[in-house]
Amino acid sequence: MTKILKPNKENLTEVKKLILQDEVVAIPTETVYGLGANGLSSVAVNKIFKAKNRPQDNPLILHVSDYEMMERLVYGLTDELKLFLNNFWPGPLTVIMKAKKIIPKEVTCSLSTVAIRMPKNEIATDIISICNVPIAAPSANLSGKPSCTNAKDVLEDMNGKIPLIVDGGDCMIGIESTVLDLTTKPYTILRPGFYTKEDFLKFEDEILIDTALVKDGQIPKSPGQKYKHYAPKAKVLVLVSDDRKKVSFEISKILKENKNLKIGIFKFDQTILDVDSENILSLGSIFNLEQMSKVLFTGLRDFDKKNVDLIIVEGCKEEKLGFSIMNRLKKSASGNIKYLD
Ligand code: TXA
Ligand code: MG
Repeated sequence: MTKILKPNKENLTEVKKLILQDEVVAIPTETVYGLGANGLSSVAVNKIFKAKNRPQDNPLILHVSDYEMMERLVYGLTDELKLFLNNFWPGPLTVIMKAKKIIPKEVTCSLSTVAIRMPKNEIATDIISICNVPIAAPSANLSGKPSCTNAKDVLEDMNGKIPLIVDGGDCMIGIESTVLDLTTKPYTILRPGFYTKEDFLKFEDEILIDTALVKDGQIPKSPGQKYKHYAPKAKVLVLVSDDRKKVSFEISKILKENKNLKIGIFKFDQTILDVDSENILSLGSIFNLEQMSKVLFTGLRDFDKKNVDLIIVEGCKEEKLGFSIMNRLKKSASGNIKYLD
């Protein structure tokens, strides 16, 4: 059985004990929940791969609470770089840098680089500080499924596989951190996330985007990007249009043509349907993509609990945060996307 505990002082002492005994504990972060373990212990890190059923060639992020801890892990952490990082940390940014030998090969999957993040969520940073080790933590879902943004979703995937989940409520952001490769100049975005190219361009003259994120048939530089991801059990169809009426019309048509299917509808508040359905969830306002990123994964999971056959999700414009959201949605849908304009 897996326990769910609130993050009070007594419980955090138990978390510390478990982590230092090489156990895996699910912890909240501002992006998604992570499956945390001692990032300097091969034994602990192997348990993460086992619990998630994660492919052996997909490296993990090491979460740190301060630059002193980070200094032990990477080469090239200059004062100038810290000034750049201070614009985004603590927060939803992961950077790729040259790894020092202290890091077990299980974390990096034998790459010469390592992913580092300094999260903002105070429960996460408290746990890293009290354990005083970097915490290796991938998203706390079973590999291939949508990430978990609350403790109940983590329990669904991890019950019986890990001893403890720390319940820090709903994640503020809801999609994973932006992965930025600092080993190239200009820096390259390997996974889009809450921070966008535009955010980095305020401090850098040029930022590249891994071509695999914008073109089919390229091998992504971030190993995790090549796997099928974020997929609920139900089939997913993404509908994209600037015109809410067109989306509403298309949904009515699909519902009428597929009366034998149980269909979930995940739509913007501005899209007014002229059909009735018990299986409608809100993505929030089309003008508030932060709300969309917050509810997307948990909504997909909720539709699975309702055992729908098909989930129709409204897509958004692929710019800024919308680019990151559509990166996840296209993977959830395995490319099943219809542009109505
Ligand atoms: O928001 C997040 O980043 C969450 C929370 C828990 O921090 N974590 C997360 O971890 O999303 P995960 O393991 O699901 O995704 C990490 C991504 C993977 O795509 C992985 O391939 C990539 O980072 N990555 C890790 N190390 C890398 C490296 N050395 N080079 C390139 N990509 C790397
Ligand atoms: Mg993940």
